[in-house]
Amino acid sequence: QAIPVICVDGPTASGKGTLAGAVAQALGYHLLDSGSLYRITALAALQAGLALEFAHEQAIADLIPGLSIRFSQDQVFLNGVDVSEAIRTEEAGMNASRVSALPKVRLALIALQHSFRQLPGLVADGRDMGTIIFPEAALKVFLTASAEKRAQRRYKQLISKGISATLSGLRADLEARDARDTSRSVAPLKPAQDAQLLDNSDLTVEESVNLVLDWWQSKQ
Ligand code: C5P
Repeated sequence: QAIPVICVDGPTASGKGTLAGAVAQALGYHLLDSGSLYRITALAALQAGLALEFAHEQAIADLIPGLSIRFSQDQVFLNGVDVSEAIRTEEAGMNASRVSALPKVRLALIALQHSFRQLPGLVADGRDMGTIIFPEAALKVFLTASAEKRAQRRYKQLISKGISATLSGLRADLEARDARDTSRSVAPLKPAQDAQLLDNSDLTVEESVNLVLDWWQSKQ
């Protein structure tokens, strides 16, 4: 019997991370935050002096096997340095979106993503978990929420961390990121054919988590 995988894909700030984390915790499963791998890759490329452009596609992809990436609870370490905060800024998200459009970079990250699939199971969140990385997953959730709601949530998060932001600026950024993620030629953001759509605009986190756990139960 294959190791079970639950995929949670969707646009920027739709709440994938929160949902995936809560579902993984409830089931005692491992968690893959695939977006963090693109964020880390962008950071490593910039540190190596590589602009995030097609001209450097191969050079950026070639960096990946040599990176030491370690997750521990809420922290992420790149080559032994805690980069948890550095990869969470809006700019880091935009940079991740840039490197993630490079096909060779996506290819170089596949094996690393597969390595997270360990017993007793995995919850993986991202843009292409259900379409490309784990196409045989037993449950695929495509999470959406209105751009307005997503911008509001991101705004609250940032303000609570003492980071200044404007609602209109955040909304413009997330729409730009969605446009790039949806229109790229490799692994564009789209629901898998067999994905369950979940619009959480008017749901609490708990309601969304319970819905997904119910779907998972009904598959057993
Ligand atoms: O999910 P998160 O906002 O951390 O992802 C950052 C960026 O990484 C996304 O905007 C997207 O461009 C890219 N990404 C991706 N495929 C994934 C996860 C993230 O292309 N599976």
